[in-house]
Amino acid sequence: MSSFKLKHVFFLLLTVSIMACRFSANDNSLNEDLKKKLKDTKNPVSEDVLNGMKWEEFENFYRDWRMVTSTFRTDRDQLRVIFANDIAWKALNEGKPFPDGAMFAKTGFQVEEDERFPSSKIPSNQLRLMVMKRDHKLYPDTDGWGYALMNRRRLERLEKGEVPEKYESITDFQTSCHACHQLASNTDFVFSKPMLNNVLGRTTSVNGMETLISKFQKANAPFSQKVALEIFQEMGVDKKHLENLWYMEMPLFEGALPELRASLTKFTGKNNHNYLVFDPASQLYALSIPENSLKKCQSAQKYYTGCLDKKIPRKNMVEVTHIVTICDGQELTH
Ligand code: HEC
Repeated sequence: MSSFKLKHVFFLLLTVSIMACRFSANDNSLNEDLKKKLKDTKNPVSEDVLNGMKWEEFENFYRDWRMVTSTFRTDRDQLRVIFANDIAWKALNEGKPFPDGAMFAKTGFQVEEDERFPSSKIPSNQLRLMVMKRDHKLYPDTDGWGYALMNRRRLERLEKGEVPEKYESITDFQTSCHACHQLASNTDFVFSKPMLNNVLGRTTSVNGMETLISKFQKANAPFSQKVALEIFQEMGVDKKHLENLWYMEMPLFEGALPELRASLTKFTGKNNHNYLVFDPASQLYALSIPENSLKKCQSAQKYYTGCLDKKIPRKNMVEVTHIVTICDGQELTH
């Protein structure tokens, strides 16, 4: 072979190997078949887990998007990090409504002690990934926002190219996720603000709870008393708390119950009302009642959650918790 030909063979090999590398770098472990299914928004896999979104629209969010902020859930020792794509980031910084194509991702991590520096905690397991996408055509009934949720198990299955199992407790992502995002309705249903802007110029609007109440409160829903009675019985709560009961009917899924705890109990503390939130579709409920104050200038609430229909496994239920708040409504202990 002449050196000319050899050179050609060499370049050919080089090109082929570069293509192979590029291919394997882009092709994370999702198999082609599943990728196709996920692209097809009519496919049940895509519908149930990605809710009409495409995996490749956000699979590299942690690398390609902007980090907006980070939050920490003290009751769960859970770190959350929120990311925005370019369209969402731009609108967020300009304080404008989010146009179609804007997307957010929120991912949660467990934390563990940094062995090299024990007073510091570092992210360990990734727990779940939640995604929001603005598309007024696809999601017309929820102010143009679409929602998707993947927990670790489902993410692993997706990454391995397997079909994730269906959700037990979420029958409709659109309504159950969007219900709580009403708390942020005056910021176009997005809670997060860029971290530094938020810390330097705090403009957080206060009581989103009022929005929830005005949207979901049922004054005298015909069956509310019956449902309330059943719940009070199941939880062994004194019937005297039926008086002064404020009733809300709202789409819920099991993950929403612990998330609502702080808002509901704070509101109970402030107004001395009992609140019952119930979802007739999933039969999930949250009940918040005041308890006798322990000390002057403190209030205590009990928060119960459960499901009247036993289809949601007990392991996912939250136990009764006490919340103690001080006068200004700030949470003191759990
Ligand atoms: C009970 C309340 C509640 C429910 C239900 C809820 N969220 Fe959220 N969501 C929040 C709060 C509060 C934040 C702000 C970040 C934080 O505190 O963790 C947030 C933030 C987000 C963000 C980042 C953008 C933003 O608004 O800040 C995404 C994405 C998101 N949620 C997706 C979802 C999805 C998907 C579901 C349904 C599976 C869902 N959420 C259900 C309360 C809720």
